[in-house]
Amino acid sequence: MIEKIKEKALEERVPIIKDEGLSFLLNLVKEKGYKNILELGTAVGYSSMHMASLSEDIHIDTIERNEDMYNQAIKNIADNGYEDQITVHYMPIEEYKTDKKYDFIFVDAAKAQYQKYLEQFIDNLCEDGAMLFDNMIFHGLIYEVDDIKSKNLKSLVKKIIKFREFVQNDNRFDIIMNDNIGDGILVLSRRKGCNLRT
Ligand SMILES: C[S@@+](CC[C@H](N)C(=O)[O-])C[C@H]1O[C@@H](n2cnc3c(N)ncnc32)[C@H](O)[C@@H]1O
Repeated sequence: MIEKIKEKALEERVPIIKDEGLSFLLNLVKEKGYKNILELGTAVGYSSMHMASLSEDIHIDTIERNEDMYNQAIKNIADNGYEDQITVHYMPIEEYKTDKKYDFIFVDAAKAQYQKYLEQFIDNLCEDGAMLFDNMIFHGLIYEVDDIKSKNLKSLVKKIIKFREFVQNDNRFDIIMNDNIGDGILVLSRRKGCNLRT
């Protein structure tokens, strides 16, 4: 049933996580035993349902601001019986404020806002938790940024490059940059003994 949702999403050009990235994500969640998950960017609920399918103990808060995506996600999640495990918040990510601690945060929304999202949610990440950012090579465009003609696209790709440099140089974080997996996956965790707000 989730596969049908994938087919429909691909047909309708809804951007969902690629197979390779999804396998990596699911293995990580399984291996580390993450249970409280925050997802930024629900789309039609494809990745959140895959995560929920790993264990009934997993709960996911996922955020979506697009009404059509939100309605599709709610329907898909109910049709597949995951409504007790997945809560879809219909709002802009920027407005989601909570004191909850998550052991895993999957960042899959506006790529230009990755640094903002990191700062917004780092205090919601458990000590031993991790954040995962998708599209870190952005279809390979980070390697050919000088050749990009579209101004908007160029600016977006530059922001991703800047974010990559930022996390590589910020000693609050331990990072693993997996450029060869899917569309490039960054896993970021807190460096032990590091005060996040200094
Ligand atoms: C790449 S898709 C998410 C795909 C989904 N994680 C999956 O793999 O099945 C990104 C989604 O984030 C949503 N989005 C982008 N910026 C957002 C924002 N600021 N607040 C809420 N949702 C946002 C878009 O509407 C889009 O549906």
